[in-house]
Amino acid sequence: MILAVTMNPSVDISYPLAEFKLDDVNRVEQVRKTAGGKGLNVARVIRQMDEDVLATGVLGGTLGDYIIQELSKTEIANDFLKINQESRNCIAILHDGQQTEILESGPTLTEENGAAFVKKYQELLSGVSIVTISGSLPKGLEPGYYRQLVENGREQGIPVIVDTSGEALRQVLVHRVKPFAIKPNLTELSQLLGQEVEPGIDSLQQALSDELFQGIEWIMISLGSEGAFVKHRADFYRVTIPAIEVVNPVGSGDATVAGLAAALKRNLPVVDVLKTAMTTGMLNTMEAGTGSINYANFSRLFEMVQITKINS
Ligand SMILES: Nc1ncnc2c1ncn2[C@@H]1O[C@H](COP(=O)(O)OP(=O)(O)OP(=O)(O)O)[C@@H](O)[C@H]1O
Ligand SMILES: [Mg+2]
Repeated sequence: MILAVTMNPSVDISYPLAEFKLDDVNRVEQVRKTAGGKGLNVARVIRQMDEDVLATGVLGGTLGDYIIQELSKTEIANDFLKINQESRNCIAILHDGQQTEILESGPTLTEENGAAFVKKYQELLSGVSIVTISGSLPKGLEPGYYRQLVENGREQGIPVIVDTSGEALRQVLVHRVKPFAIKPNLTELSQLLGQEVEPGIDSLQQALSDELFQGIEWIMISLGSEGAFVKHRADFYRVTIPAIEVVNPVGSGDATVAGLAAALKRNLPVVDVLKTAMTTGMLNTMEAGTGSINYANFSRLFEMVQITKINS
């Protein structure tokens, strides 16, 4: 079982409009509402890969109920901490080939909420073999909150994959107990190191040799259509992918995390772990739904991913 954590899930609403009229009435006919948040994208893709997954995190109110309903409809097992505040809506207005987003920040958690979730998480860990933690922290929790979750996993010998950004990620990396894997994109990597990292092999290899990354088993830098650059233990890999027809790339990083988790769960060899993570990312870009893949197309794309080991 893979445990997928989302601390600030949302109801994602998309409003497709032929034209977006500012300061006027816009009527929408085709509204799409889905259970959103990066960890829920991860959970959905793992489920689509036919692996057991349990979605957890914190939610509340009628929107929280809606999220649970949606997860149950798609047969994603879930066990969230419920709080007495309303979960958030995130709205994407799709117009003229552009996407305008309006994102609520969501509930402000109390210290008690934070502690109650840690307790729930510790209980859930007993039946779990891998954990993924995705997305930003809700207001109210200190930026080092994820450290505790990583540490609890490590204490029980459970690999924890962390996909977050900014201070929450930095705090996890400077902690004594390291995550098992991280998957920043190039922007998140640059932000972390406080300098622009170029997408070339030399510059990526140098960046990942920073002592901040010491002790992390897998560092996967995803590069969108350019694939990924990966450090596994002392080895570096350049992963390239074929050109594909992209429908919606949002959530591809989450699908990559899902593939990584599933591949690790399956104890695949290094090369196949890399190929699996890239393939699920690509499959996500080919679907309209965010954080969603058609697993039937897996093998065809998997064969097209190329791995080059870099001599260090
Ligand atoms: N345009 C694209 N064409 C082909 N594959 C893509 C494209 N965009 C993403 N992918 C696949 O998905 C993986 C992850 O994408 P990306 O690097 O954009 O993640 P991300 O920035 O974390 O995305 P998000 O946070 O929105 O989920 C890539 O490594 C690649 O395998
Ligand atoms: Mg991402």
